Order: sequence, then structure tokens, then C-alpha cells
Amino acid sequence: MQQKIIILDFGSQTTQLIGRRVRELDTFCEILPYNKFPHDDPSVIGVILSGSPFSVYDKEAFKVDLSEIRGRYPILGICYGAQYMSQLYGGKVEPAGSREYGRANLETIDLENPLFQGFEKGSQVWMSHGDTITAIPENFKCIASTSKVKYAAYQAEGEQLWGVQFHPEVFHSVQGSLLLRNFVVNICGSVQDWSPASFVDSTVAALKEQLGDDKVILGLSGGVDSSVAAVLLNRAIGSNLTCIFVDHGMLRKNEFRDVLHDYECLGLHVIGVDASERFFSDLKGVTDPEQKRKIIGRDFVEVFNAEARKIKGAGWLGQGTIYPDRIESLNITGKVIKSHHNVGGLPEEMHLRLCEPLQWLFKDEVRRVGRQLGMPEHLITRHPFPGPGLAVRILGEVNPESVRILQEADDIFIRGLRDYKTRMKVEDARRLLAAGVPQSMVEDGEIEVSLYDRVWQAGAVLLSTVRSVGVMGDERTYEHPVALRAVTSTDAMTADWAHLPYDFLARVSNDIINHVKGVNRVCYDISSKPPSTIEWE
Ligand code: XMP
Repeated sequence: MQQKIIILDFGSQTTQLIGRRVRELDTFCEILPYNKFPHDDPSVIGVILSGSPFSVYDKEAFKVDLSEIRGRYPILGICYGAQYMSQLYGGKVEPAGSREYGRANLETIDLENPLFQGFEKGSQVWMSHGDTITAIPENFKCIASTSKVKYAAYQAEGEQLWGVQFHPEVFHSVQGSLLLRNFVVNICGSVQDWSPASFVDSTVAALKEQLGDDKVILGLSGGVDSSVAAVLLNRAIGSNLTCIFVDHGMLRKNEFRDVLHDYECLGLHVIGVDASERFFSDLKGVTDPEQKRKIIGRDFVEVFNAEARKIKGAGWLGQGTIYPDRIESLNITGKVIKSHHNVGGLPEEMHLRLCEPLQWLFKDEVRRVGRQLGMPEHLITRHPFPGPGLAVRILGEVNPESVRILQEADDIFIRGLRDYKTRMKVEDARRLLAAGVPQSMVEDGEIEVSLYDRVWQAGAVLLSTVRSVGVMGDERTYEHPVALRAVTSTDAMTADWAHLPYDFLARVSNDIINHVKGVNRVCYDISSKPPSTIEWE
């Protein structure tokens, strides 16, 4: 039985991060709403209570009965989780004089405590809270303090119940991973058997069992998730898997051809459908961004369905849904939101059941599984790319000419990012690169890293509704600007503009203006998200 840690979500922005940190300890975990503890699940080995945007005093604050959890499982409360347990069991929580936010040091630590095994006195932690614990319950003991926070961590005497006021899951808590390791491995007794290899073995076996001789259809996008899902399914059921890859005409330069080739090399049976003419014809004269999205979405479903209908006897629709798409996240109004992307409107008469082999994985785990399956690095490290493709990066009408201009500019930018390489210490690379570090590329503790790998996502945007004056040779030009966008991020919910080197930007700007007919100006987008978004639309 696969052991698991349950993370009860009280709505903090860092709950998913706690999940990822636990998975990094090769331990499976599930994130569940604070009041959905699976009392009858025998595989649970420990419980973590997350932070929350609420104060324990708020009327709407999430409250839960822990009587059937306390004493049965080891518990670790983080921030609100710690305050909540402290208050619940008779301690006192009060508003801090000023909101405590940022770095702090554990000036006193009980280094004998199992939670702090291997810690150093003065260890830096990250605080982010408006309330503070001013008295702990009777029979609880204080096990760490900072200069401002007396009860930075506590334990219930003689019990496996801890609370920490700081956030061990965030990067700035220097020994945070060690604390989580102490809890998950030493205290909860995880045997650390959750690895890409074990995932592949068990998932392939489970898929064989689930699907038998059934046929599966899967829509490929060229992105990491659908590609890894396809390779996994292919390993389980081989020729019973048929993949469909639709070209709507707004992919990157040569992408349809190159990605199809990659898929064929991976042994996938793929039907490539070039439907670009239909999309361009339906997009003619349309400039409103929402309207464009609607048309592309509708056409995509119709083209996909027409192909899917041709595959006789299919019983399943395979999808690359990943865990963050499924987590029921709590928003501040207390409503449970379930975000789950589905292929819209597949015809009911096809009676397809959903098969989602990656539904338990975070993005970084999908990539590790892809590497385990022997997929090429350029597929695994590919940046996210929006479903409607370059259409959301062309302001104004989308037509073959505007797409051509943007494809050329984008290609120069992306090739430039891939070609600009520097060496980096492997531990820095592990921290900084969203796509992770393949061990095979490490040499003397270092790895060669391109700008492409350093950023979360990059692309060019064509401002085809704007023209400005330029001069080329002796001639006056009146053409479009291109904006370059490159951002760093961990989940696309927030993003910062990437501080790309000036020499690189200068070269790319020159190359674009000199080689792409129709463009006479290049700008670099220096807005972060929020308040901007990643795509311009
Ligand atoms: P924004 O522009 O909202 O984008 O900051 C956040 C992330 O979502 C991607 N994106 C999409 N992905 N279909 C997708 O599959 C879409 O329609 C779509 N729109 C935006 C965007 O590229 C970024 O990674």
C-alpha cells in the first residue's frame, strides 16, 4: 500500500508548495480541503495543517474537529495550522503588534526535539502572519523562539503533535526541508518509495488492468503533460492508443512538423490533422480577443471530434490532467472551487470514459516521469504554450500573414534563448530551474544552462494594430512593433519579467528588425503579473 501524508488545506497560497516539498521527500501526499480528512484510509501516516488567509478569530475562519486525528496520527500545524491547534486546546492567539513578514532567526531551539534534528542555532525561517501565539495550552512546550516570536514552535508534551509559526515549505526557510524531512521520514515513518520509477511501474500496471484491450484516444498539444501521458499509455497498451494532434495554424514556426516527428520517434501512433485553413477562414476580420478564443475553441472541438469519430471502438479519452488542475482549492470566500479542465463537448454518443494517468502529479514530477520514460530533453523542458497558440499573441486580426511575421520573430527570440548558455552550480540549478536538472547533464558539480531553461515562459507578441515610423537604409518604414515577453515563475499564477542580459536583447532586437519583414521596432515587456498577465491577448 502506498503510504501517504494528508495535507489539510486551510486556504493558504503555499499549500501546494507544502505538497511539492513532501513529494520531494519521495513520499506521496494528498491535499484535501480542511474538513475532508479521509478517516477510513489505512494508508495515511501523518497529517499537516496548512496556513490560511484567515485569522483564527475571523467569523468565517475554517474550523475543524481534530478529535479523531489527534493521537492517531503525527500532526504538524504550519502558521494558521499551529495557531488553530493552540487556540483549540486552550492557548491564546492575538494580533501581532505589526504584521510579521519576512526573514527571522530561531534564536533558541530545542535541538534535541525530533522536529529539529540537525538544525543549527539561529537557523533562518520565513514568517508571514498577522496573529501570534501568546500562550500555549497547558501541557504544550515551547521548542523554538525568535527575537519577536516567543512561540515560534511548540510540541504537545508526550504527543506527536507539533506547531510551527513559520513556513518551512518556502525557500527562505533555510532548513525548512530538513524540518519536513524530520516530520515526514523520522516521525511519520515514510519509507520514501514514491519515485518516478515506482510511479511508472505501478501506473503502467494499473493502466493495463484498467484498460485491458480497450482503445484510447488522446489529444496531443505538443506540451509536456499530454506528451508524457501519451508515452505512459503507449507503454501500457501500445497500438490500442491513438493520438490526435491538430494544427490550427497558430503553432510556432515548424512546430507541427517537428513535434509530429518527435512523437513518431517515441513510437506513438499519431494522426496529424492540418486544419489551419478552416481556422483562418473562421477568424477572418475578427479582432476581439474573447471572440477569437471562442472561435478557436469551437473549431478545435469540432475538428478533434470529427477525427475521434473515425476511430472505431474507442472506449476512453486519455488526458494529460495534472494534480494542480484537480486540487479543490479554497478561496477566501470559503467556497470550494474545483478547477478541472476537460476537453469541452466531446459527443455524448461516443460514451468515452476519462483516463488521466498523471492526475496525481505536480508539473515537476511529470517532467521527472518523462525523463524516466526516456523522452528527449527538448520535449521535457518545453515552455508552456497556450492552447489558442499565437492567436493570443497577435493583437488584431489573426491571418496567415500576421502569424508568419510573428512566427519568424518568435523563432529568432526562442533560438537565441536556447543558444545563450552559461554554466551554473548544480544546487543552484535545482533551485532555479522549473524543468529540473537531468543527472546525465551534470559535470563536475556544474551544468550548462541556457536562458531558455532559466525562464518559465517566453515568446514574441505582434502588435499588428500599431504602426510606427522607422528608417531602413535611405527609406522610411511604417511597420509593426514586436514585444518580447520572458517571465520567471513557478506556477504562472504570479510571474516576474526575466532580467535578460542587455547584450542578448540587443542582438535579438537587431536580428528581428533585420530579418523579419513587417517589423521595425522591438520592445521588451517589463511588467510583472499581477497586475499584468503573461499573455497579451
Ligand atoms: P496569463 O496570460 O493568464 O497566462 O497570465 C497564464 C498561463 O496560462 C497560459 N494560457 C493558456 N494555456 N490555454 C492554455 O492551455 C489557454 O487558453 C491559455 N491562455 C493562457 C499562458 O501561456 C500562461 O502560461
